[in-house]
Amino acid sequence: MLTTPNFRFRRLRRTSVLRDLIRETHLSVNDLILPIFVEEYITEAVPISSMEGIYRYPENQLGSVVTRAWNKGIKAVLLFGISHNKDEIGSDTWNENGLMARMIKIAKQAQPNMIVITDNCFCEYTTHGFCGVLANRDTDNDATLANLQKQVVVAAKAGVDMIAPSGMVDGMVAAIRSALDAENFSHIPIMSYSTKFASAFYGPFRDAVDSTFKGSRNSYQIDPANGREALAESLQDEAEGADILMVKPGIIYLDVIANIRNHSRLPLAAYHVSGEYAMMKTAAAAGCINERDAVMETMIAFKRAGADLIITYYAEQIADWLNAETKI
Ligand code: PBG
Repeated sequence: MLTTPNFRFRRLRRTSVLRDLIRETHLSVNDLILPIFVEEYITEAVPISSMEGIYRYPENQLGSVVTRAWNKGIKAVLLFGISHNKDEIGSDTWNENGLMARMIKIAKQAQPNMIVITDNCFCEYTTHGFCGVLANRDTDNDATLANLQKQVVVAAKAGVDMIAPSGMVDGMVAAIRSALDAENFSHIPIMSYSTKFASAFYGPFRDAVDSTFKGSRNSYQIDPANGREALAESLQDEAEGADILMVKPGIIYLDVIANIRNHSRLPLAAYHVSGEYAMMKTAAAAGCINERDAVMETMIAFKRAGADLIITYYAEQIADWLNAETKI
């Protein structure tokens, strides 16, 4: 009867120093991107009820939020605007004095070295809430491309560091690249929301942006059942000139992250979305999980699966936790 195993994994797990020595995956504050919500015409920060600890900020607080993140070591922010100048086509996004342009200028002025990224979409700027020009209860793909080109050129002129198109418009990366290049912005990278699923986990985000959207995005976002198509979407964006790819949401799509990682050499981002954030916050508040441990385990899982960057509402909190560790 065999009683002595011929190999013992436990030999390298015995002490925390040994575990540190053989750890395969690491998380750093350099991996994190902080999303920030900014609403026009409000005077005080408004807490988002479904996302504990997250606010819609007035424009005059954006600078201090960006500085607070920078001082924690966060190198990149992703700006979302909540517009009060909505119309059928989202034209405020290509207004040089519109909310998107103003947010970029404020953020860059507060911290010139912060990587300022915009979520380049229309849904927070259209009266109907769809991610582009509406035609027959669906977005008109090609008409939206022309508007996206106008939007990104205005963002670039306002000083944006990176463009992040999230509308799942076919051909969006190629259209953006050519518009930027034509206006001498060939140095501005594109982080495409390349593999974005039609997910129930965006629920709290819709709260956050006060969306009156009642429709469905199933005609342009990916069916969660489709893994091959999910890979094809990201490879298509790579072929069109994307500089960074993304999978969104994150936790339940680790297989997709790993698959894209195996097929592309580009940096890859995972978006830990609003519903994932809210689930952790509520589970922690209910005493079901240790928040810090559960969040750190989730972040390491993204990285182990192959993500280089993580967009998360937890970014500031994680930075605090990481900074406290290195001070010991
Ligand atoms: C806009 C956009 C959405 C999110 C990011 N950009 C909403 C959507 O596609 O419905 C979701 C982010 C989140 O849930 O945290 N197109």
